[in-house]
Amino acid sequence: MTTVGIDAIEIWTGNLKLDLPGTFAPQKGEDPEKYTKGLGLNASSFPDSYEDIVTMGANAAYRLMDRKGLEPEDIGRIDVATESSFDNSKPVSTYVAGCLEQVYEGDFHHANKGERKFACIAGTQSLDDAYNWIKAGRNRGRAALVIATDTALYARGDAGEATQGAGAVAMLISEDPSLVELSIEQGYGSADETDFLKPNQQFPSVDGKRSVQVYLARMREALEDFESIAGDSHPDQYAYIPFHTPFPGMVRKAGLLGYRHMIRDTEIEDDLAAEIGRQPRAEAFDDDEAFREALREYMDSLKETETYQDWYAKTIDPTLTISREVGNWYTGSVHVARASVLKHGLENELDLTGSKLLVGSYGSGAEAEIHAETIQEGWREEIGALNVDEQLAARYNLSWDDYEEIHDAHNHEMDVDIEPRTTPEAEFVFDGWGRMGERKYTFVE
Ligand code: CAA
Repeated sequence: MTTVGIDAIEIWTGNLKLDLPGTFAPQKGEDPEKYTKGLGLNASSFPDSYEDIVTMGANAAYRLMDRKGLEPEDIGRIDVATESSFDNSKPVSTYVAGCLEQVYEGDFHHANKGERKFACIAGTQSLDDAYNWIKAGRNRGRAALVIATDTALYARGDAGEATQGAGAVAMLISEDPSLVELSIEQGYGSADETDFLKPNQQFPSVDGKRSVQVYLARMREALEDFESIAGDSHPDQYAYIPFHTPFPGMVRKAGLLGYRHMIRDTEIEDDLAAEIGRQPRAEAFDDDEAFREALREYMDSLKETETYQDWYAKTIDPTLTISREVGNWYTGSVHVARASVLKHGLENELDLTGSKLLVGSYGSGAEAEIHAETIQEGWREEIGALNVDEQLAARYNLSWDDYEEIHDAHNHEMDVDIEPRTTPEAEFVFDGWGRMGERKYTFVE
């Protein structure tokens, strides 16, 4: 059977950075450790005034195509996933194709293009679309380009302001992939929720505390659905578990919940019983609140065990390294988590070929999806080609005054023209407006 999955990946981070403990926390009058320890973030990546979802997506896609020696005719499909779109009709993928056509001789006239929307899960849904297109045999030997790109900015003063970020992930989906094969098995957990939305507005309306609960509830549902076809999961079955990462503290909660679920009725629960007892079972309680309280107590104890902490340090923590430095990239976030863990494997000279990932995506509104991936032989070469460390190190460090100006410049409701903080080099840039209100782009050598 044809294997289909991710052949290559590229990351493009916004060219600016906001230091959360150093610059943001003092202005908010808060303890820097709320950011570094509580939310788990050191910095947010920010777009400079000439950057947006198109430039970041096109820059990531160009790096990917250039590195893989691809020409436009090798690509049969371009899907952009974003929740920061600026047009209700013309998809961002047409702008990206237009950018790439400035630097290639060929064109993408025979590539199917679209834009996917379902909050942060849309990047994974675009992977699905590409996977299904190839599996159905409609690709004529061509690959699909999936781009997850967002400027995840919140209104000034919103609690989510601390978790902002901006960047793009470009992925090439093909037969016989070099990086990971996607499983046929998938699980979904979806419900009509009002946790985070943008009803024709640029910055989100967020019920932050509730959004955390909805994330966990839908993720749990998705895991149960996945297990109904793939069989029960065991913590040792997966080398790593990359989750959608709005901020690492969210993943800390998801990891604990997932672990409790996976160890139920296993030798791990038995071994831990002497130390913390067995997990409470609903059938042993008359009232739901008492059951929930017992569950909370069990989770608090489980979190402190060496067994859990070792598993978390090995399986989850390495997925968070890049995220800590960039914040939330919405649609790109779970794909950054996957890249992070493979980069960890490369840096630690691990033999990961054939190892499995369990990937948990989430989009507010709300839906979670879980599938498995198998790491392929070419992963070292692919991940070794990433220059994410260089990109992160090259970002301009915003002062508070810079931050206020840049945030205003990206607020569609304000007409602010500011000097960029960085000088673009060999990249696509926003170059003003056209006669019908379209955005224009140029490649700067
Ligand atoms: N030292 C160490 N830890 C500290 C601390 C200190 N001095 N001060 C606070 N903390 C801890 C808190 O205990 C808390 O950790 P726990 O939740 O584990 O207890 C953590 O730091 C955050 O503190 P608060 O809960 O007080 O933070 P907040 O209320 O200001 O903001 C938030 C938290 C509501 C999630 C806010 O960041 C937010 O609204 N974010 C946007 C929404 C979001 O990302 N939701 C996630 C799920 S939805 C999703 O995933 C989709 C998406 O991408 C948006």
